[in-house]
Amino acid sequence: MDKFRIEGPNRLSGRVEVSGAKNTALPALAASLLSDHPLTLSGLPQVRDIATMTRLLEHLGVEATAQPGELALSAHSIPDQPEAPYELVKTMRASVLVLGPLLARRGYARVSLPGGCAIGVRPIDQHLLGLEAMGAEVELEHGYVTARTGGSGGSGGTGHPARLRGCRFRFASPTVTGTENLVMAATLAEGTTVLENCAREPEIVDLTELLEAMGARIEGAGSDRLEIEGVRELGPAAHRVIPDRIEAGTYLLAGVITRGDVLVAGARAPDLASLLEKLQEMGSDVRIESDGIRVIHSGAIRSRDVVTAPHPGFPTDLQAQYLAVMTQADGIATVCESVFENRFQHVPELGRMGARIEIDGSFARVFGPTGLSGAKVMATDLRASACLVLAALIAEGVTTVDRIYHLERGYERMESKLQSLGARVERVP
Ligand code: UD1
Repeated sequence: MDKFRIEGPNRLSGRVEVSGAKNTALPALAASLLSDHPLTLSGLPQVRDIATMTRLLEHLGVEATAQPGELALSAHSIPDQPEAPYELVKTMRASVLVLGPLLARRGYARVSLPGGCAIGVRPIDQHLLGLEAMGAEVELEHGYVTARTGGSGGSGGTGHPARLRGCRFRFASPTVTGTENLVMAATLAEGTTVLENCAREPEIVDLTELLEAMGARIEGAGSDRLEIEGVRELGPAAHRVIPDRIEAGTYLLAGVITRGDVLVAGARAPDLASLLEKLQEMGSDVRIESDGIRVIHSGAIRSRDVVTAPHPGFPTDLQAQYLAVMTQADGIATVCESVFENRFQHVPELGRMGARIEIDGSFARVFGPTGLSGAKVMATDLRASACLVLAALIAEGVTTVDRIYHLERGYERMESKLQSLGARVERVP
């Protein structure tokens, strides 16, 4: 297993290009299952989750052809009774995104219950309740979800599977992949589906644009109420995924923690409004430039409290990285994690580097500023890994971050991007 060896302290400066958004690319790939016709995606980040999803699609019968800068997908020959097995699903919770499209297309899907980051219970009850509201029968057995339309499963030999039915469904609380799953399922349902209390993340807006390009009829993108008028079939489309706001936010926070000057090219300010507001409150000079967002930080960092929340609130996927920055801020910062119940696994590791953080349920109190010192630390999940890398950038001496395969799930070429900003980081086997 590879590690990062980071020698600190570093000051980052320069320009770094943001990759395509992993969390848009995943549902976009799953959307290929909705149609017989080809879907061409560009801007896909080269990260492990994308490779995993592509493998899963290939297992489901999708032809995936890589061309320079794009991936062409064709799902014209998926089986009548498709199955997403545990071996492919276990490492990535987002695999559940194939459930809605398969069910809508084939009237049947059997999908292993997902694994993914160890950041809490993360049920999929809302996905399943929504599909049931659309007329699916759902069974949970042997670690698998089996969903079918019309009672019999698959096409029942007729060649025409029963369609899902349009319905009104209200999410108990906003869920990103839950919203994406139900929107995709609803595109091929009979009649109109109204989804309420939807998540509003930019990744969902991007997915609805892709689905519309395929011929879906969707109203309300970006709001918490989506209305989808089902169509019989979807057509060919080409789509470029949006830039990754979480990756962009991570490099902006890296700029701040190292008191550097970093331009994140391609970053879109509206997607990052809650973070940019915090950066300004912390005393950073934030500049929206023609090709991205630049942050310059010199002098003290002001501590600021944060509560994570569904978009447009502060993203839970930036909480760990933010917490690393707060170890360097003047005063006490309270960070409340309100989305996931077990997302402070980076805190004990930061403690090993000298940070002073107290945890009380969903609250972390960070006492700053503290000098950090290099140590051997272990990445526990994707964003926790990024937090440790940020801390290592300013720690005195050498930090080795173990288990960076977590990082590789969501950050493209992180070490070379950091090196290009002047960081002393190398990958060691
Ligand atoms: C997505 C993102 C992930 C991000 C998260 C929250 C992808 C591939 N992943 O994950 O990076 O951290 O949004 O912004 O886009 N919940 C239920 N029942 C459900 C579904 C969710 O109770 O059926 C709960 C979860 O346990 C969690 C909260 O809802 O507490 C939000 O989770 P959700 O938005 O579903 O996260 P994901 O879609 O898995």
